[in-house]
Amino acid sequence: MTKPLLNVSNLTSGYGDIQVLWGIDFHVDEGEAVCLVGSNGAGKCTLLRTLSGLLSARTGAVEFRGGNIKNHSPKQILGAGIVHVPEGRRLFGPMSVIDNLLTGAYLRSDKDNIRRDLEQMLDLFPILAERRHQAAGTLSGGEQQMCAIARGIMGRPKLLMIDELSLGLAPKVVDSLGEALRQIQRQGLSMLLVEQDVITAFELTTRGIVLDSGRVKISGATQDLAENPMVRQAYMGLV
Ligand SMILES: Nc1ncnc2c1ncn2[C@@H]1O[C@H](COP(=O)(O)OP(=O)(O)O)[C@@H](O)[C@H]1O
Ligand SMILES: [Mg+2]
Repeated sequence: MTKPLLNVSNLTSGYGDIQVLWGIDFHVDEGEAVCLVGSNGAGKCTLLRTLSGLLSARTGAVEFRGGNIKNHSPKQILGAGIVHVPEGRRLFGPMSVIDNLLTGAYLRSDKDNIRRDLEQMLDLFPILAERRHQAAGTLSGGEQQMCAIARGIMGRPKLLMIDELSLGLAPKVVDSLGEALRQIQRQGLSMLLVEQDVITAFELTTRGIVLDSGRVKISGATQDLAENPMVRQAYMGLV
């Protein structure tokens, strides 16, 4: 059997004296789209921050493409192929859309491919093409999310981690973001999607991990999770 793209075992992490993650085990296979769901405060952001090197892991192992990346620097982890699109987008507000997209490629030196990827992102998100010279800070929330995702892809990641894709966005905007993500997935990019809207998360991914108080409560195929009575009641507001 081939090794997973990302393999996390017994990961613990937190802030100072506060431990948030208590022994997390999960993996993402090459080309797979996995969602990470759970209530507010479950530890989803903390997990992404630990994986991207913004927060140090206390114990456990994080392997990416067969190599150890635990507690490597954010720059090393980006270089290894993991891009983290943070909650709240964190665009450079006064800079144009194009310049924001180009910052995503700052570790790359393959100028021709960067140009090509930039054109591809403007094709994928036509609204960004229209607004290419506009300051990113003046975009709508949905446009900013598109810009943040496109900027992430400009780093040519092997794994794209998105924190809170749909938060604060209108359903129509979420639909078009979802469509773009499906196109990206079809090109083989692996994805770890953190999403408070479990129904949206399950639509966009094939496997899910439910976090509860810093522990994996249940995981499995999203199809199965969507039929699980506990998941339906506690996380989907369904019976
Ligand atoms: N900078 C921080 N310092 C201390 N505690 C934090 C910090 N950020 C988050 N936490 C705590 O960590 C827990 C998990 O938070 P978070 O990972 O943001 O959850 P989620 O993204 O699932 O809503 C919460 O109890 C939260 O209060
Ligand atoms: Mg969060």
